[in-house]
Amino acid sequence: MTVVGPFGVSVRDGALEADIRAGLAAVEEGLVEATKSEVPFITEAAQHLVRAGGKRFRPLLTLLAARFGDPYAPGVVPAAVTVELTHLATLYHDDIMDAAEMRRGVPSANARWDNSVAVLTGDFLFARASSIVSELGTEAVRIQAEAFERLVTGQIQETAGPREGQDPVAHYLDVVAGKTGSLIAVAGRLGALMSGADESVVNVLSQYGERIGVAFQLADDVLDIASDGSESGKTPGTDLREGVPTLPVLRLREMAARGGPGAAADRELAELLDGDLSDDARHAEALARLREHPALRQARSDALSYAYAARETLSPLPDTPARQALAELCDAVADRTA
Ligand code: IPE
Ligand code: IPE
Ligand code: MG
Ligand code: MG
Repeated sequence: MTVVGPFGVSVRDGALEADIRAGLAAVEEGLVEATKSEVPFITEAAQHLVRAGGKRFRPLLTLLAARFGDPYAPGVVPAAVTVELTHLATLYHDDIMDAAEMRRGVPSANARWDNSVAVLTGDFLFARASSIVSELGTEAVRIQAEAFERLVTGQIQETAGPREGQDPVAHYLDVVAGKTGSLIAVAGRLGALMSGADESVVNVLSQYGERIGVAFQLADDVLDIASDGSESGKTPGTDLREGVPTLPVLRLREMAARGGPGAAADRELAELLDGDLSDDARHAEALARLREHPALRQARSDALSYAYAARETLSPLPDTPARQALAELCDAVADRTA
């Protein structure tokens, strides 16, 4: 068994391994090409995060999904490039909204330059993604546009918060399906579609993408609390500091509201989390206490159940090395929370 790609998927089949490596290399070339501008500063800003790395989780999924048709079909690599470029654009914008200073182990674009550069570079990347997807036909353009709408809607809903009377966890799961699940679903859908796979297979891979996408985001939320930042390349507890509640915080609030033994201590931590965390000492204390709290274990188990559901989605597919790799990918996402 060999681990392939920066995210690390276990592949048992030599031919699949070689093809995925070649596909990911072609995607890298495509990304560098797509981020070149006649204006040197735009190239510098657009390539800032491309060159910083990243897991390339979405292109990997596109390449694996294309194994259910002709994996060498000409639209497969451009589809993977489109999805990664769209993702990249959202990172430039997200770091403005979250006031994040680190991304992929380097200063975020807003920290390195300013918000204007970050927002316009994100727009530039969206434009380039649109241009590439336009070569793949109107159906691909529609799929991309609809996902983009869902993604933005998810981000806006995150900013707006739950409606009056809406369960905060249910709201957050909707947010995550929108902001993250939508594009990862497209990674699966477009890979399968471009390979010419059957419609039923395309739908399975889209649903798989949606579910593993939610698991991926929930695992990332856990990691944001539990890790020291060397693995994520981001500053731990960024969302906490900005008061953007993620699943561990929502699970804690539920536990605090439920009453029973320990609820007083839970309420105290909930109050600390709801307070001003711009102070470094208070932020460090909140992070340390949340790390030890059962709410973090609950959030971890939520992430695992989505990873498990994603794995189940694969059952109608033929049992091939690609399907095995997609199943391994679910384990890899789940393992990130451990
Ligand atoms: C970051 O996405 C946003 C989330 C959905 C958690 P990734 O975790 O895929 O970021 P990169 O591409 O590896 O930087
Ligand atoms: C990332 O969301 C942006 C999108 C998924 C569109 P988050 O704010 O939750 O992710 P990180 O932690 O900054 O990567
Ligand atoms: Mg965000
Ligand atoms: Mg963020």
